[in-house]
Order: sequence, then structure tokens, then C-alpha cells
Amino acid sequence: MQRSETSLKKGGHELKHIPISQPVIGEEEIKAVVEVLRSGRLSQGDRVATFEEKFAQYVGTEYAIAVNSGTSALHVALSSLGIGKGDEVITTTFSFVSTASCILMQGAKPVFVDIDPKTYNIEPSQIEHRITERTKAIIPVHLYGQPCEINKIINVAEKYNLWVIEDCAQALGAEYHGKKVGTFGDVACFSFYPTKSITTGEGGMIVTNDERIAERARMIRNHGQRVKYIHEILGYNYRMTDIAAAIGIVQLEKLEGFIQKRISNAEYYNKNLKIKGKTFVANNVRHVFNLYTIRVRNREGLIEHLKRNDIGYGIYYPIPLHRQPKFMRFCRRSLPEAERACGEVLSIPMHPTLTEEQLKRVCDVINEWMEVNDIRHA
Ligand SMILES: Cc1ncc(COP(=O)(O)O)c(C=O)c1O
Repeated sequence: MQRSETSLKKGGHELKHIPISQPVIGEEEIKAVVEVLRSGRLSQGDRVATFEEKFAQYVGTEYAIAVNSGTSALHVALSSLGIGKGDEVITTTFSFVSTASCILMQGAKPVFVDIDPKTYNIEPSQIEHRITERTKAIIPVHLYGQPCEINKIINVAEKYNLWVIEDCAQALGAEYHGKKVGTFGDVACFSFYPTKSITTGEGGMIVTNDERIAERARMIRNHGQRVKYIHEILGYNYRMTDIAAAIGIVQLEKLEGFIQKRISNAEYYNKNLKIKGKTFVANNVRHVFNLYTIRVRNREGLIEHLKRNDIGYGIYYPIPLHRQPKFMRFCRRSLPEAERACGEVLSIPMHPTLTEEQLKRVCDVINEWMEVNDIRHA
């Protein structure tokens, strides 16, 4: 579904492929990487420390711990909270697999909850009756770049004394009531995969205000050691390289510009798409549009039309987590809103380098198909 930019001919005109996502790497990132390569110090070093410091400052937390992926960040977060066998962790069924696999990595049980069909985020009102004596934590996800109703989730967590781990993989820079996501829970995790708001190739970050969690997270990412060759707890090699961190430092400086462009792309779509199933933005949030997702009943027909017109697309996600072979034994119930969403969501090109001409072409192609095929269902 993702391709690099190529051109093809349709009716004698050049049609350039419009990718669904595109990392933005400039000469500054290249220079920063070359400097690290020339320095001879490639693994975790001072670039990682600088990236962590600047990242914590941007999000507004005391501590940031860099790791080699968003998945590692989630695993380290759960492990640093001591979540393990016999424990239950409540999360949304509509997310990337890592949100739930990190629970299994710790030998705990994922408990899946349905979504709000407007925002696709976890439905807070359904969390409380899934809490048992074994429940230890909640992992809410800020999906597509839109903050979930994190205040309500924090209230439930406080009532039952549960940890909250925010999965911010898609939502760096997003805000809920003027406050950045990643600052509400006990710990939060970010991803720097190339489709995310900023990239380091692969990479992730854990943030927290709790010194004990930060210290354990630092140990777990580096073989459970505080002092070299003294392994106090079970750890892994989840370290970020200085090569990746050098890219991250430069990307972080560009982040606000990237977000502004994503938001203006979304405004263009909201104004020019003639469909009902546009992205809904809740009140009092800053949605950072990691993805722009529309909703259509006859999705396959529109996908064929996008393919014919060489426009990239993605389905995030085609199968809810509770229906995945690895997870279905944990949930026999139907979670109808997520199941319906999986059959109807479609993400269209969204990245900072989209031109107005490309945005117009995406809208024209979708509107053209909707007019003929789906006006009643859109
Ligand atoms: C919601 C969510 N959680 C976790 C992850 C895992 O991040 P990574 O791919 O960096 O391991 C992703 C990445 O796609 C994600 O979208």
C-alpha cells in the first residue's frame, strides 16, 4: 500500500503517485548523521542524552528514555511498572498490535474494550465494568493523532488505583485541553517509525515524571544494569543508537512545522471532500493528524478507484485486536463499534510534503467516486 514516488501515464498525462505517508529528511539530518559516523561513537552516547533532554522539554515531563522502537518503549513501560503474570491490563481493541503484544510479553492478560465510533479512541464509559481484582493498568491510545478522553480515564484509574500508560505512538504534539498527551499518565510511549510525526528510522521514547519509573526504564533498556556488568533486574538491549538520535534531534526542531502542515492538510480535506465520513475532531483537542481517516461503506470500490489514480491509501486497522488469532482467546465478546470501523476506515495521503495540487487531486478523485457510487452511503 506504500510505494515510492513513481510516475505513470493515464490518458496521455503524467500521473505522479501520491504516497499515503512520507518521511521528511533534509540536508540537516544527513549532516548530523555523517558527524556521528565520523566521530566513531555510533551506539548510545551523547546524542541520545541530548535527544532525551530536548524531547522531555518538548512534551513537558521530567524524564525521557530513548529506545529502539515504540514497541520496545511499551514493553519497557509495562516491565518498569512491574506488571506481570496474573495481572490484567485494559486497552482498546482498535490499535496497532504492539499496544496489546506488550501486555503478553510481560505474561499479563489483555482485556479489550470497544471504541467511540466518532473518534475511534477507547470508550471511557466501558472501562469500569472490565475492572477486576487483577487489573493493574490501562493503556489508552491517542489514535491517528487525536487525543482520547484521557481525563475520564485518569479518573477511573485514580478510583481503582491503576497505572495509566499512554500509547502516544501516533500523537506526538497532540493536546487535550491545552496540555500535551504523554503528560497525563504515569508513563507514556512514543514511536519514531518513518510514518510518524518525526522519525529516527526506527525508534521510541518513554516519558514519565516518576524518578523510580525512569530509573527502572533506563535499566531495562540496557540489560537490567545500573552499573556495568551488575544485572539487578531482567533487561534487554533496547538502546537507541547515536545515529538515530542525531536524526531525532534535527527532526524535533522541525516538528511544529510538520504538525502545522498536517493540520492545514486536514483543513483542506475537511473543506473540499464532499463526503459524510470525514475525520471528526473532538472539542478542546489538538489533533495532529498522523493519519487522516475517512469512513466509507463500500470501501473496496473506492480503493480500486484510488489505485487506478495512483493515490496511496492504508487501512488502520483491518482486524480488531480481539479478533486476531493471537488474542482471540482473551475476548469472546463482540466489540461492535471496532468491528464495524475495521470494515469501513480508509486513510488517505497525509504528510507535510503534500502540495495543494496533490491535495486537490486526492479530493477530486474521492469526490468523483462518491458522486457516482456512494452518495447514499457516505
Ligand atoms: C498505536 C501504536 N502503538 C505502538 C506502535 C509501535 O511502534 P513501533 O512501530 O515504533 O514499534 C505503533 C506503531 O506503528 C502504533 O501506531
